[in-house]
Amino acid sequence: MVLVKPPVKAEIGVIGGSGLYEIPDLQNIREYKIYTPYGMPSDNIIVGELRGRTIAFLPRHGRGHKIPPHRINYRANIWALKSIGVKWIIAFSAVGSLREDYEPGDFVVPDQFIDMTKGIRPTTFFEGGVVAHVSMADPFCEHLREIIIDAAKEIDGLMLHNKGTYICIEGPRFSTRAESRIWKEVFKADIIGMTLVPEVNLACEAQTCYATVAMITDYDVWAEKPVTAEEVVRVMNENTVKAKKLLPKIIERIPEKPLEDKCSCCKSLETALV
Ligand code: ADE
Repeated sequence: MVLVKPPVKAEIGVIGGSGLYEIPDLQNIREYKIYTPYGMPSDNIIVGELRGRTIAFLPRHGRGHKIPPHRINYRANIWALKSIGVKWIIAFSAVGSLREDYEPGDFVVPDQFIDMTKGIRPTTFFEGGVVAHVSMADPFCEHLREIIIDAAKEIDGLMLHNKGTYICIEGPRFSTRAESRIWKEVFKADIIGMTLVPEVNLACEAQTCYATVAMITDYDVWAEKPVTAEEVVRVMNENTVKAKKLLPKIIERIPEKPLEDKCSCCKSLETALV
């Protein structure tokens, strides 16, 4: 198969989660269908300029939210972004909270994750021929996390927690009460979602700087108070407004190139066991 590289370059990738399907104020918008060795990404990649930087936007679930978490082609998504030169990936996602003080409407920049997916998602680019075991001790780009945490200080009314453990379940169903209590009390996870894995580890294998902005929509089901669908939709819409304000502030702070003294994401394969 011959893969033709599209005539475009972008430095910063933005992956939109539930609720975030477009970037406001993106200028000079172009749209590319990118073919990858792993098949098609979730949607065409939207490329445009924001704050003088070239951004590549990809809605994780596709426009119109048509792809469930377990069916997302994570490898094609990361490959597509990498193939056009993306070095930084800011990933937005909706999550539930597993602790009282992380409230619906708050954002979290997780620093750790627990993988409770069921092993049916392809999780690596290294499937034979070349074998590499990348380190996942610190799975997120510390430099990009710092940038996001700093940018959030400029957004009035945004409560952002600067760390947390994200437990990723297979979905598409939500957890039972018994499961939710295990994630909270035994595993000590802070937030729960369905899409972080394998996106985060593929981004690492692709040697990109990757961080997640997790937007809390609900208290999951460990809390006895039942949440209504209307409530979740209302909070998600409010979160989307905040995310759209936050994104340009993050973009403004991203340096031209990842700085070697701040993170080693772009060298993750140099330290991998091969
Ligand atoms: N995404 C948003 N809320 C969630 C929850 N409670 N569990 C899993 N994924 C979620």
